[in-house]
Amino acid sequence: MRIAADRPIDSPIAKSPGYPIRPLLKWAGGKRQLLPYLRRFYPPSFNRYIEPFFGSGAVFFDLHGAGRLRDCDVVLIDSNADLIGCYETVRTQPDAVAGELDVLAAAHASGGQAQYYAVRDQQFNPIRDRLRGGDGRIAYTPQLAAMLIYLNRTGFNGLFRVNARGAFNVPAGRYDRPKIADREKLARVAEAFSAARLRLVWGSFESVLSLAESGDFVYFDPPYAPLSRTANFTSYTALRFTADDQLRLQRIVIALAVRGCHVLLSNSTADEIAALYDRNADARAAGLRALRVPARRMINSNAARRGPVEEYLITNVAAGTRD
Ligand SMILES: C[S@@+](CC[C@H](N)C(=O)[O-])C[C@H]1O[C@@H](n2cnc3c(N)ncnc32)[C@H](O)[C@@H]1O
Repeated sequence: MRIAADRPIDSPIAKSPGYPIRPLLKWAGGKRQLLPYLRRFYPPSFNRYIEPFFGSGAVFFDLHGAGRLRDCDVVLIDSNADLIGCYETVRTQPDAVAGELDVLAAAHASGGQAQYYAVRDQQFNPIRDRLRGGDGRIAYTPQLAAMLIYLNRTGFNGLFRVNARGAFNVPAGRYDRPKIADREKLARVAEAFSAARLRLVWGSFESVLSLAESGDFVYFDPPYAPLSRTANFTSYTALRFTADDQLRLQRIVIALAVRGCHVLLSNSTADEIAALYDRNADARAAGLRALRVPARRMINSNAARRGPVEEYLITNVAAGTRD
């Protein structure tokens, strides 16, 4: 089944009653473009909000900006230790991060791409290595968080990619005047993360199974299953998200739907995903529907392949309109 968009994100009517915040980071698979469709499946009411593949958190910031997360327990999970380390630091020390970013932005204005590579190779990667614990957690500091934001704003397409040794290896992007330091945004993001009942969790999506209860809203945005072998882009971390991971995720999504959670999942229209949700009797029996929506694929080194594609929204929430 194909589904129409809610009002366009930038129409004045669609502006949220709270204050809108754009995600802090550009992120592979970021969902800002899909928000007009996703919004149709935000449940009218819910208990907790849980997002097990947080990334740049387009849906979280959308819900937050709309005032939908007030007085709500929120759990934001991602397996990327840098991402969670950076967010934790922005949450607790936004002014220190902003100060470090000002310094990096000034150096970039004169040094450009050479400055990008100097920060990446002589500072960010060595410091990350020193601050990484035996369990893989990275004890982020304001300096390191500012570097991650700087590399994200000035690197190629905002990618986060590491090599086999775990070193960040994204090349410099080509931006004339990248917006690097934005104190107001940092302060707003810090405020959004500072809600007393919000938890940032470094970990894997499976923890949601012991966490989510009936009435909770869980939005899943896993690394997409590749449409073809050449379109494979799953290296958000050094680990790939495999077909087996997609299957384990499907079991959890079904279990939570049966439990009475409001579930919403986005994924590609790869055949393996169609088999897990669209042509799957267990998914149907759990009340899940697989809907096709148009989307633009941004992460592709070949610009010609960034054309329109369809994506799946899989949900047990009845379609509504936002206003
Ligand atoms: C498609 S992105 C999410 C994008 C996000 N919705 C946004 O708007 O930016 C997928 C995210 O899942 C994370 N991830 C990958 N494997 C994971 C796992 N096993 N458990 C939790 N998170 C994982 C990646 O680090 C990445 O941030």
